[in-house]
Formats: sequence, structure tokens, C-alpha cells
Amino acid sequence: MTPKVVRTVAALRQETAKWRAEGLRYAVVPTMGALHEGHLTLVREGLKRAPKVITTIFVNPRQFAATEDLGRYPRDEAGDLAKLQGAGCDLVFAPPPEEVYPLGFATTVSVAGPAKAGLEDRFRPQFFDGVTTIVSKLFIQTGADFAMFGEKDYQQLMVVTRMARDLDLPIEVIGIPTVREADGLAMSSRNAYLSPEERKKATAIHRALSYAADHIRAGETPHAAASRAEHVLTGDGFKIDYIAARNALSLAEPATSAEPLRLLAAVWNGKTRLIDNIAV
Ligand code: PAJ
Repeated sequence: MTPKVVRTVAALRQETAKWRAEGLRYAVVPTMGALHEGHLTLVREGLKRAPKVITTIFVNPRQFAATEDLGRYPRDEAGDLAKLQGAGCDLVFAPPPEEVYPLGFATTVSVAGPAKAGLEDRFRPQFFDGVTTIVSKLFIQTGADFAMFGEKDYQQLMVVTRMARDLDLPIEVIGIPTVREADGLAMSSRNAYLSPEERKKATAIHRALSYAADHIRAGETPHAAASRAEHVLTGDGFKIDYIAARNALSLAEPATSAEPLRLLAAVWNGKTRLIDNIAV
């Protein structure tokens, strides 16, 4: 059965109230649609933890800068619903913008700490305020027990986790490892923008990060390994926003050689900005 689609918060709450009355727990998978295997993995992982899953589909204008790709962000609701049916999703919340941001909307949820680490936030200054505002609304609107997020957007995962803890939101944020294409490229809705040539070239990102992580584990300094990855990718013709080794939890600059690290990157492949990251 295709999942039921609701477009208002009131209709959403009618559905979740039925589940609560039956004593059922449920997970939410927040997305912007144009779904791929990465998103569907979050749905399946949600179903391992709770009998019901809500997928939200909303291309959130507040997290796009005026110069970014809001207008051309891929949209395919019919295709998304067919994929969600295959993954076993029960309910889809796909509100129009005016349901989410009615006239007079005046509230922003803003996180510091991992949201001000100098990574995505440095290049997309309004991005995390947009994300945390919509995600806090989705958590409150759905009242879900679990929220599934991908490690693909690692800084976002850390920011949302921090926000849920800081605001005592009664939801458990769960991070799921990045789903990759067979050649290593992290799946992303934005991969659809790549020309065949750019698509081939894009595999270099994961390769460079893996190589750098191996070298850090073998004793190279995180800084030197990140610099070399940057050098390699620049040589391949990518324009680098950042490649950085950070504390895996706080995303602060590493202070000791013993702490858990994450290598994070944002690079331009032609006109398409791609992000990826890897555990060290
Ligand atoms: P979107 O880019 O659609 O991603 C939705 C979720 O899918 C995020 O948690 C993201 O990390 C996860 N995801 C994307 N590609 C993945 C992959 N290859 N493997 C595993 N997980 C993957 O992230 C957003 O939307 C928005 O910022 C949102 C949280 C919905 C707020 O608007």
C-alpha cells in the first residue's frame, strides 16, 4: 500500500494519535524528497526500532541562501511515494510552505557549538538556523520517539543531536552510516546535477578522504593528511571549501592525538557542491 500522505499538522496529529492509542512507537525520517537509497535506508533502520515510520518531505526554503539551488532542487513526489512504499513507510508528511511558515512566522531555533564549527556554517551562514528551526518543528509536530539522520550530513547530525539534548526534546536522534554508490560516491539528491564526466570524477572525494584517514591512523598528523587530500583534489580540478579533521563529537579542532576524529569535506565539482566525511 502506498503510504498515506498528510499535508497539515492537524491531519498528522490525527494519525499519530491513533498509533499512540494503540501503544505504538514511531520514528521520523526528515527529508527534502528526491529520495534515494540513503533516505530509504533511514526508513528501514527506523522500522528496526519502531513499528511505524513517518517520512517528512519538505524542501525547506529557510536553509537555502538566495544564491543556492532552492528553485531547481529536484522534486518528484510520485516517485518518492513509490520508493517509500517499497521501504515500508507508513505515513508521509508533505506540507506546503504556508503550513510550515504561516504569515507572521517569527521564530528561529539557533544552535552554537557544533553549528559554529567553521565547516558548513562558514560557507552557508544561515543553513543551520534553517535546519534547526525546521527540524525542531518536525520533532514537535510528529512527536516521534526516534529521529533517523544520515552521517552523510555529519555536522547536521551533530547539531540536531545537540539541539534535542539542549531543549530536552523527548526524541532519540539516531545516526546511520553513509550509503554509497558501488564506486564509493556518497549518495545525494544533488548527484543528479552532475554531468557524466563530473559523476566519474566525483569518486575521487571518497578516495582522498579514505586515503587521508588511513594515513592518520598510521601516524600522520590530521592537519598534514587533510592538507594532502586538499592538494590531491585541487589537482583533480575540484574547488575546495574545506577539508578538515575534527573531534568526532564536538567538531572542534583536535587538541590531542588520542581523541576520536572525523574527516569532513565540502568541494565543488563544476557547479555542484558535494559534501562527504569519514571516520578516522
Ligand atoms: P536531505 O538532504 O533530503 O537528507 C535527509 C536525510 O537523509 C538526512 O539525515 C541525510 O543525512 C540523509 N542522507 C542523505 N544522503 C544519505 C546517504 N548517502 N546515506 C545516508 N543518509 C543519507 O538533510 C536534509 O535533507 C535536510 O537538511 C533536513 C534534515 C530534511 C531538514 O530540512
